[in-house]
Amino acid sequence: MSIKGFIFDLDGVLTDTAEYHYRAWKRLADELGIPFTREENEALRGIPRRESLLLLLKGRTFPEATLNELMERKNSYYLEYIREISPRDVLPGARELLSEIRAAGLKAALGSASKNAREVIERLGIAGLLDAVADGYSVTRQKPAPDLFLHAAALLGLAPAECVVVEDAAAGVEAALAGGFTVIGIGPHERVGKAHVVLPNLAGARLADLLARLPMHA
Ligand code: G6P
Ligand code: MG
Repeated sequence: MSIKGFIFDLDGVLTDTAEYHYRAWKRLADELGIPFTREENEALRGIPRRESLLLLLKGRTFPEATLNELMERKNSYYLEYIREISPRDVLPGARELLSEIRAAGLKAALGSASKNAREVIERLGIAGLLDAVADGYSVTRQKPAPDLFLHAAALLGLAPAECVVVEDAAAGVEAALAGGFTVIGIGPHERVGKAHVVLPNLAGARLADLLARLPMHA
C-alpha cells in the first residue's frame, strides 16, 4: 500500500513548544517545592496534562480541586509563553516538508495531545498547510494508545497503512506502531529508536528521501 498522508505531532516536531511545556512545569514544581529536572521532563514528552502533573507530583496526593487548579496554573504559564510564538518558530525544514507533501498531492494532518494545538498552529502560520487537526479534545484515550492517530487518519480518509506518523515522544512512537502506522522518530535513538526511521530533526528533510527510506519502499 502506498503512502498517501503524513500525521505530524506538534510539540517537539513542528515547533519547540516542548521547551515551553518544560518551563511551565518547572515553574509550577518550583512553587510547590518539588525537585524537577530537564531529565525528568523527558518522561512527560507527549504525555497529556493530567498524567504529566501526576508524574511531576511523584506520588504526592491532592484533592481533585487542587489537581485541577495546578493543571490550570501550569496551562496559564504555558499560554503566557506561547503568546510570543510566531511563524519564525516553525522548526527548520518543517514548513518546507509540509509544502512538499501538499504539492505532491499527499495529505497532512496534525496529531497532537495538546489542547492548545490549534492556537499554536495558528500562531505558527501553518494551519493552512494541514488538511485535518486531531488534538487534545479529539479522543479520550491518549498516547500511547493509538486512538489519536487513528482519528487523524480517519479525518484524512486514509488507512493507517497509508500514513506516516512523525513523532518525537516515546509514547507517540508507541501509539503510532500500535495503530499500524509507519513511523519517523525525531530525536535520539534512546527515545525514538523503535520508529522505522530516526532523524535528529526535520532540517533538510526532503519528501522523496523520506519515502525512499520507509520500510515498504526498501
Ligand atoms: C503534547 C506535549 C505534552 C503535553 C500534552 C498536553 O503531547 O508533548 O508535553 O503535556 O501535549 O498539552 P496541553 O497543551 O493540552 O497541556
Ligand atoms: Mg511531541
